Amino acid sequence: MTAKELRKRFIDFFVKQCGHKEILSASLIPEHDPTVLFTTAGMHPLVPYLMAEPHPLGKRLVSCQKCVRTDDIEEVGDDVHLTFFEMLGNWSLGDYFKKEAIEFSWKFLTAPEKDGGLGLDKAKIAISCFSGDSDAPRDNEAAEVWKKLGIPDERIAFLGKKSNWWGPAGHTGPCGPDTEMFYWSGEGVAPEKFDPDDSKWIEIWNDVFMQYNKTAEGKYEPLKQKNVDTGMGFERTVAVLQGKKSCFETELFAPAIEVLRGLAKYKLDAANLRREKIIVDHLRAVTFIMGDDFGVGPSNVDQGYTVRRLIRRAIRHGHSLGIEINFTDKIAEIFIKNYGEVYSELERNCERILTELRKEEDKFAKTLVRGEREFKNILPKILEKKLDTIPGDVAFNLYETYGFPIELIEEIGREDGLKVDRKLFDEEYKKHQEMSRQGATAKFSGGLADHSDQVKKLHTATHLLQAALREVLGPHIFQKGSNITAERLRFDFSHPSKMTAEQLALVEKIVNEKIRAGLAVRIEEMTPEKAKELGAIGVFDKKYGEKVNVYFIGDYSKEICGGPHVNNTSELGNFKILKEEAVAAGIRRIKAVIAI
Ligand code: ALA
Repeated sequence: MTAKELRKRFIDFFVKQCGHKEILSASLIPEHDPTVLFTTAGMHPLVPYLMAEPHPLGKRLVSCQKCVRTDDIEEVGDDVHLTFFEMLGNWSLGDYFKKEAIEFSWKFLTAPEKDGGLGLDKAKIAISCFSGDSDAPRDNEAAEVWKKLGIPDERIAFLGKKSNWWGPAGHTGPCGPDTEMFYWSGEGVAPEKFDPDDSKWIEIWNDVFMQYNKTAEGKYEPLKQKNVDTGMGFERTVAVLQGKKSCFETELFAPAIEVLRGLAKYKLDAANLRREKIIVDHLRAVTFIMGDDFGVGPSNVDQGYTVRRLIRRAIRHGHSLGIEINFTDKIAEIFIKNYGEVYSELERNCERILTELRKEEDKFAKTLVRGEREFKNILPKILEKKLDTIPGDVAFNLYETYGFPIELIEEIGREDGLKVDRKLFDEEYKKHQEMSRQGATAKFSGGLADHSDQVKKLHTATHLLQAALREVLGPHIFQKGSNITAERLRFDFSHPSKMTAEQLALVEKIVNEKIRAGLAVRIEEMTPEKAKELGAIGVFDKKYGEKVNVYFIGDYSKEICGGPHVNNTSELGNFKILKEEAVAAGIRRIKAVIAI
C-alpha cells in the first residue's frame, strides 16, 4: 500500500463506515496558542472542542494533521524518530468512548483491504493499557474490550503514565489514559508474549480516552465531556504496511536520499546512514515549516530558531558526507514535488522555501569550514588539559563568529565526550545581547534610522497604521516593535492569526482616508496617568518619567512617543502595505511604504 493510499483509506474508513466528518490539517504554527511553537498532535487544534465548545462539523471528526516535535531532534537518525510527521486521527467529542473507539481501531487495522481496512495480521498485534496510579485507576475496561476482540492476555501490557497517558502539550488541559497498538516487525512468527521494550514491536496507533482536565494546580478533574483522541503515526504505518524496516526506506524519503547520494560519493557505513536520515528528516521538516501559509523562516527566535537549527544541522552533516555544493534546496525540491499534491501550500510557497534555504545555506556555509577548523584547533587544547567541558566563552565565540547554534556546539562536543559550560555561555550571550541592544538604540533611536523627512512621514504613518489595526482587528493590538528607514516602515504587533486580504485592504483604506483628511499632528506634554486616562496608547507597565509626550493625529490617534512627526497627514502621500507575515508566535509584522 502506498502512502497516498493509506491517507485516503484512513479518512474514507472513518467517514464512510463510522460517520465521521473530515477536517483539514491545521497550520503547523498554532494560530491561537502562543504557549507552544508548533502543532505537535492532531488534537492540538481541537482543544476548545475537547473542552466542550461545539464543533461546527459535529461530534465525530477525522483528519490527517501535519505535526512537528522538536524535543527529540538529537534522537533523529535512527529508524523511527522524525521531526515532522503526519498524524492520522479520529475524534469523538463527547460522543462514543472506549468500547467503540477500540472496536473502530481494531476493525481498521484488521479488516481485509477489500472492506476498507489495512488487512494486518491479527497474530502480530499487541496492546498496552494504563496501569493506574493515584490520579486515575488501572484501565481494565480498555483491556476487557481488547480481550473480547480476541487479543490474548499475554499480548496486553499494563504500563504507567510515562507510556500510557496523554497529557497536553502545555501543562494544563484535556488528558487521560491511552491504549497503544503495536505491530511485530521482526522476521517470522511474533513472540507469544508482548515485550514493550523490544524495538521490533512498533507502536503504530494510540487511542487516548480524554476524561480529565489537568488544572493549573496539577489536579485532575473530570472533563465536561468524555472524548476520544487517536493518533496513528503515518510514516511508521506506511513502513509497516510495506514490510520496510524504517520510514526512510519508503517513498516518503527514498527519492530524497537518492538525490543526496548523487551529490557526493561516500561510504554507506552506519555513521553516514545516520547522517543521511538526519539531513532528509530536517530538510523535510523545514520545507513544511517554511511552506506553511503562516510559514516562518530562519531567525534567532522562537520557531525561526528551530528552523535555523535544523537547516544548519543538516548542512553540517551534508558537509561531513563531503557535499560541498549548495544542496538543501535540491532536497527541498523533491519534497515539494512529492507532497505538493496533498499539501498545496508547499507549491504556493515554493519560492519562499527555496530562497530562504539558499540564503541560509550561503550564510552558514561561508563560516562553516572556518568554524569547524577553529573547533578542531580548540579540541586538542581542551583534551590536553584533561577538561571535560568546553568553556562558555569559547562556545560563545563559535556561536557568535561562526553561526553555530549552541545545540550544535554541544552535539559536536559530545562526539568527543565534552560538555559545554552552558552557564557561562548564557552569561556571555546575555551580556552580548545587552550590548547590541544599546548599540541598536544608539544607532536607531526610537526605532528610527534618522530624522529625515521621509522617516518622519513613515513614523506618522506608523501611528495611523496602529490606530487602524486597532479599529479593524480590536484593542488587543499592541506595538511589539518598530523599525523605520527612509524606504519603508516595519511594524510588529500582537495578533494571533494571519490577517485576511480584506482586513489588510480595509486597514490600508482607512490610513489613506486619514492621510487625505489632512489631520493636524499635535504634541502635548502630560503625566503618564493623564495619558492613560485619555486612552493614549503606550506601554504603561514600562517605566515612564514624570512627564511624557503624547502625539495626537486629529482625534484619530493618541500615542505616547518621542517623535519626531510631520505637522499634517496631508504631507504623507499614498500609503501601501507590502507584506504581512508572522515573526513569532502571536506576533505579526507589516511592511509598508508611502509614495514619495
Ligand atoms: N494525541 C495522541 C498522540 O499524539 C493521540 O499520540
